[in-house]
Amino acid sequence: MNLQGKHILLGVTGGIAAYKAPALVRELRRTGAEVRVVTTPAAQAFVAPLSLQAVSGHPVRGELFDPAAEAGMDHIALARWADLVLVAPATANFLARLSAGLADDLLTTLCLATAAPIAVAPAMNRQMWQAAATVHNVGLLRERGVHLFGPAEGEQACGETGPGRMLEPLELVTCCAGLLMASERLAGVRVLVTAGPTREALDPVRYISNRSSGRMGFAVAEAAAAAGAAVTLVSGPVDLPTPPGVQRVDVVSAAEMAAAVEACDCDLFIGTAAVADYRPVAAAPEKIKKSAARLTLELERNPDILAGVAARPARPFTVGFAAETEQLETHARDKLARKGLDMIAANDVSPRAEGGFDSAVNALRLFWADGEATLPLQDKRQLAHELVQLISDRYRSRPV
Ligand code: C5P
Repeated sequence: MNLQGKHILLGVTGGIAAYKAPALVRELRRTGAEVRVVTTPAAQAFVAPLSLQAVSGHPVRGELFDPAAEAGMDHIALARWADLVLVAPATANFLARLSAGLADDLLTTLCLATAAPIAVAPAMNRQMWQAAATVHNVGLLRERGVHLFGPAEGEQACGETGPGRMLEPLELVTCCAGLLMASERLAGVRVLVTAGPTREALDPVRYISNRSSGRMGFAVAEAAAAAGAAVTLVSGPVDLPTPPGVQRVDVVSAAEMAAAVEACDCDLFIGTAAVADYRPVAAAPEKIKKSAARLTLELERNPDILAGVAARPARPFTVGFAAETEQLETHARDKLARKGLDMIAANDVSPRAEGGFDSAVNALRLFWADGEATLPLQDKRQLAHELVQLISDRYRSRPV
């Protein structure tokens, strides 16, 4: 494990597991990281600042308004200094304050002021971990891209057994190394992702669309941003928050999506959008009346955005999706060749399959010219991280 030269800002909050913080600092430094420690006032009841100063080699910061400390490295400089903010242990109270966006002490202020990834290692009684408020707060933090390291299950300081134990220092170091490595995988790469459905207007109040929720594409954009890419997300109408660090362009129709994609240069294109294949030849200018017994709609083909990108003279590395109800591999490989793609991610959307459209979980099979891989059924956000890892491996080993 190598964290050589990495700047880790360790936040220690007031739980019994804080007694492990000096060991954690030692292990982090052993892998080459530079560590600066910030405590909450409550943490100082469990671990002496002097111990943390001795092992980190730097004075420990605990106060937001400390004129002497602010004259050296002020809190904004400290927030900028960090490559990673790790809060270990993170108490239920700290998670609540972080999820509320408070900035009423040095540590929460740093968390708001930093552009670095934030990871928390929760440590608390199992009942507190499972309390509805904590579950909600952790959900919010996850949504905002905060990484969760643990907690583990096991014996607790209070004598109970269950989830809520802080991971051991060495396990936390492994998590930090994994996260920092992952956060550089696509550094400097411009990634363009399409997501969601498109809507093709029939008249001013009606449209043709499909059941895509946009979740997979948003998760892919989030994972690519977490991998260090500069991500633009062109999205059809969805009800989802923009992932952290992602530039979003909202569109409605396939034609608008095609134009937004056309306007954007990229090194890597990932087309997850469920683009409507056809659109009405002309949308009626006024609401269509139900006077006729039968209504015939005349439709024309939409442009294939993905194939268009793959056919560019200076084409980016191009990844498509294929939602299939049967003969997954045959249809996916056919699309890979026909659209001139570098990779295709196929999912089974037949009624017998779990996941897919409008679901929080999914499974994928990936195909490229001379290989394939399978990603098992899991939460779409976790799946997206694994997918982005596979894509970045192929992207990095592409012939140039
Ligand atoms: O041909 P099919 O629609 O099954 O291909 C799916 C893939 O092509 C997806 O990656 C989708 O985003 C992309 N696509 C597109 N423009 C279209 C149709 C599909 O970019 N008009």
